[in-house]
Amino acid sequence: MAKLIVGNWKMFGLGASLSEIEGVADAVPDGVEMAICPPFTLIERAARAAAGSALRIGAQSLHAAADGAHTGDISAAMLRDAGATLVIVGHSERRADHDETDAQVRESTVAAIAAGLDAIVCVGETEAQRDAGEADTVVAAQLAGSLPDTADRLTIAYEPVWAIGTGRTPTVEDVASMHAGIRAALVARFGDAGAKVRILYGGSVKPANAAELLAVANVDGALVGGASLTADSLLAIAGAV
Ligand code: G3H
Repeated sequence: MAKLIVGNWKMFGLGASLSEIEGVADAVPDGVEMAICPPFTLIERAARAAAGSALRIGAQSLHAAADGAHTGDISAAMLRDAGATLVIVGHSERRADHDETDAQVRESTVAAIAAGLDAIVCVGETEAQRDAGEADTVVAAQLAGSLPDTADRLTIAYEPVWAIGTGRTPTVEDVASMHAGIRAALVARFGDAGAKVRILYGGSVKPANAAELLAVANVDGALVGGASLTADSLLAIAGAV
């Protein structure tokens, strides 16, 4: 399967950043799939900027309900209407800042998929959990609690919390081991379909380490934060596939 490189702009991108969207849209390499998830307020303009190109536009979160009295939230149908075709669910910053639980992540994932969005479900351990030797069990529990009942439109992102925005990454051996464990859990849960679910790695991916990380078995792409904010940097990562 083609590798998928996803940029997560987080709460960045105010101003002239649409030129970065256009820059990526104009240069998506053959054989690689690419998406950018800007803040909600930029989705519609980003989708317009990427129209007709291979670049997909996504969102960073959603509410599980179709509509209702949920101040400050946004539904899957609203994301579709704005031009998103995929959404990140359960990013560790959502789990930490907004207390999102595995059950909520699962509900939002089900809602996203039902609305026709591809869902990227994030899992990953904290540094304390890794130091305590709990990384595998933490991630297994997150998967068990967060995954929907089918593998359709599903992507997983393994993002060790301690690697996000820190410039630190796990060893390739640790990435290989975690991704193999996630693959086994997906196959156990979904059968053959679990073998086809992409597993992205995220956490301090940059042009200098992308080739090494993307060459690891069961690393089917990358979820990129800081290095996704310029077209040059995100395209360099895609070019390392
Ligand atoms: O969603 C992206 C990740 O949180 C990684 O962020 O590439 O800035 O470490 P980072």
